[in-house]
Amino acid sequence: MSRSPLPYSRKILELFRNPRNLGRMEDATVSATAGSPACGDMIAFYLKIDENTVITRASFESYGCAANIATASMLTQMVEGKRLEEAWRIGWEDVAKEMGGLPAVKFHCGVLAVGALRRSIREFFKRKGFKPEWMPEKETFEEKQALEEEELAKIISRRLMLRGEEK
Ligand code: FES
Repeated sequence: MSRSPLPYSRKILELFRNPRNLGRMEDATVSATAGSPACGDMIAFYLKIDENTVITRASFESYGCAANIATASMLTQMVEGKRLEEAWRIGWEDVAKEMGGLPAVKFHCGVLAVGALRRSIREFFKRKGFKPEWMPEKETFEEKQALEEEELAKIISRRLMLRGEEK
């Protein structure tokens, strides 16, 4: 059975073929890995943050799809030079808009990228031992959709077990 290609924008295809800021950052101030419960893919986000809480560099590693690679790449470009508070306020819809839209079945891929960024920012303040007033106490939707490796592994093995029982 042949599948029709997803309606990706020209920008998504361009970033997928030539992603910016791809790769591990050895001297990152903070990083976070996150997995999507929707598809089981993983991403890592790295931030270099200066003493004024401005992001001077951002990079990512993705084991996700084209939409995830493109979204994460775009996000690294959008956050560079921004204060953590400004970066926190970027929603996955903003990134999708910047790329000319995302197909509906790929929304979760954008959510995963933003979730990984927010997890990194939350981790930064956790290490500093304080929470800024603009950061919500509870995890946001995007953070909840970006699980830590361990949580993701548990969900996947539970699903596999259920599938095994169904057979
Ligand atoms: Fe998993 Fe896109 S399908 S990140």
